Amino acid sequence: MGDAPGMLAGHPDRERWNARYEGRDAVSFEPHPLAVRALSLRPPDGPVADLACGPSGSALLAASAGRRVTAVDISDVALGLLAREASRRGLAGLITVVQADLRAWRPDAGGYAIVLCTGYWDRAVFAAAAGAVTAGGLLGWESLTDAARRRRPSLCAGWCVGPGEPAALLPPGFAVLDLRDVPSAPHGAKRLMLARREA
Ligand SMILES: C[S@@+](CC[C@H](N)C(=O)[O-])C[C@H]1O[C@@H](n2cnc3c(N)ncnc32)[C@H](O)[C@@H]1O
Repeated sequence: MGDAPGMLAGHPDRERWNARYEGRDAVSFEPHPLAVRALSLRPPDGPVADLACGPSGSALLAASAGRRVTAVDISDVALGLLAREASRRGLAGLITVVQADLRAWRPDAGGYAIVLCTGYWDRAVFAAAAGAVTAGGLLGWESLTDAARRRRPSLCAGWCVGPGEPAALLPPGFAVLDLRDVPSAPHGAKRLMLARREA
């Protein structure tokens, strides 16, 4: 699993998220609505990248649709849960799990028909993700917004998109297909965006 897990041993993000996943009683493997929508829009042939994937139902859905999936997360516990479920469903051959810090890992430019990232925000990761979308492909993103910090002041500002983001950060050649805020989401206000790169 992954590219250099040893280097991530003491990483605070890994420790925090491993502890959360280890404490979970059950995992739903429900695909994210952005993944469902993106797959329904008949994107071009090609693989899917799921960044900060967790034990991702979206990766499982994409693989069940015949897509190769690269699923990246810093939590080896989350990736283990995903890998086990993929094996149970006979999808292991289609899903590559990569344990990596997204601040250091970069997807191949233009390499993916769909790039998904839900529940995570970093501007540099967003820029790399947009660059990884192939012509005609889709970028789906969900992140907390500044409004979430008003309810949870302890939230790090860097985890939340500001006004107009992430759409305002899309490079030229992307069209926004869907953009909406969910102000009363359980963990704080969040924003969902789906965009297509012109063919
Ligand atoms: C809120 S969860 C979202 C999981 C999944 N995408 C979803 O929508 O349910 C955030 C995920 O980001 C991962 N993560 C946090 N920091 C990371 C980092 N620096 N590099 C890679 N993944 C990270 C966590 O392990 C966790 O699985």
